[in-house]
Amino acid sequence: GAPVEADVGKLAPGEMMTVEWRGKPVWIVRRTPEMVAGLEAHEDRLADPASGEAQQPDYAANRHRSINPEYLVVIGICTHLGCSPSDKFTTGAASGIAADWPGGFFCPCHGSIFDLAGRVFRSQPAPTNLEIPPHKWLSASLVLIG
Ligand code: FES
Repeated sequence: GAPVEADVGKLAPGEMMTVEWRGKPVWIVRRTPEMVAGLEAHEDRLADPASGEAQQPDYAANRHRSINPEYLVVIGICTHLGCSPSDKFTTGAASGIAADWPGGFFCPCHGSIFDLAGRVFRSQPAPTNLEIPPHKWLSASLVLIG
């Protein structure tokens, strides 16, 4: 499949958009500074905080799993059996997940939960973190996926 361009210029902090690449949903999340800072706080609860077992380009093998910490670009397909997780950016008990929920994604099929870098929490059905597709920034607001 051909690479796909996405314009994130209208994305407000804390919002996400979805584009299709090779028949797969790719999520682009514009993280707030609080969301980025929070990635550090719960790493002891993650199955693979350094993403050693995950699929991602080398430039996304870091805590925030992206080129620019502000923007997460991730394939929105659960690494368990391929369902599409939903965004659960609301933190705490209001999320319906847990009182200490830091925000992220929830897979309704078998309940796997992922943080705002697509890293799976420990003891979940999903075996690995969500996959990061190859991508590069063409300008401050234009990202090329693929
Ligand atoms: Fe997501 Fe099973 S497909 S938890």
